[in-house]
Amino acid sequence: MVSLRGDMRVVAISDLHIDIAENRDWLAHLCDQAHDDEILILAGDLASKLSRIESGLALLARSYSQVFFVPGNHDLWVEAREPTDSLQRFREIQSICSTHGVAMRSRDILGEKGHRVVSISPLLSWYCEPDEGDLSLFLSKPGEDESLAMWADRVRIRWPDSLLSPASYFLGLNAINEAEDRDIPIISFSHFLPRQELIFSSSRDRVPFGGRGGDRAPRFNFSRVAGTVGIERQLRMLGSSVHIHGHQHRNRDRMIDGVRYVSHCLGYPQERAAAGISAKDVKPVEVFHY
Ligand SMILES: [Fe+2]
Repeated sequence: MVSLRGDMRVVAISDLHIDIAENRDWLAHLCDQAHDDEILILAGDLASKLSRIESGLALLARSYSQVFFVPGNHDLWVEAREPTDSLQRFREIQSICSTHGVAMRSRDILGEKGHRVVSISPLLSWYCEPDEGDLSLFLSKPGEDESLAMWADRVRIRWPDSLLSPASYFLGLNAINEAEDRDIPIISFSHFLPRQELIFSSSRDRVPFGGRGGDRAPRFNFSRVAGTVGIERQLRMLGSSVHIHGHQHRNRDRMIDGVRYVSHCLGYPQERAAAGISAKDVKPVEVFHY
């Protein structure tokens, strides 16, 4: 449980990618100030090196009153020469989170008088690929490379042979209490996308993969690795009113069937440059205020 002193905000961001020096500088600047009146949700892809994940989480945990985190795909990358795998990396990250007081499990946030104000639920997850059936967010794309050879996870993610479905494994770790006895707002978050339509900028978007700027990777089909409907099922069981996700590096803020879906990332320098945004203008977005 986390106790509030009044006037608290829950803020969210994803995809900090602090392997990149400019993003590391952004994080150092963010954490120069204390954020005692803020709870931070970090929706994955902090870094692809374990030492950077640890230093980043330690910095954030010192700056914010509470940090919630789930790993993204980059956080579970391993080098070919490392005698480990991505599941072992996940366990190492769990241990780092516990050392620094970073939450990877649901917690209720308490108000000044000890009453429950809001509940925050990290949802561990992975993406379902098209051959995993109807839990995948897959949509076919003309001319796509079905082998996804340019997707770095193909090389950098290594599961033990015993792990047949990473998505089922991670979703199975989430403790889902059904919504009926919940009387406070529930905020959930995942790294991966819970719904296919969130891949697109709006419900009217009829340009499925290119968008206004054209398709910069015509052979790459993001929907193959976007997420899973399994996350959507869990957030609906929880009774979430807000769900935050990362992964795509596209900012979204949409209401769908009574749930506000928010994606808000730092992303890569070249993405910010293309959008005409400077890193100093990027701040975690408020998703709850008390
Ligand atoms: Fe990602």
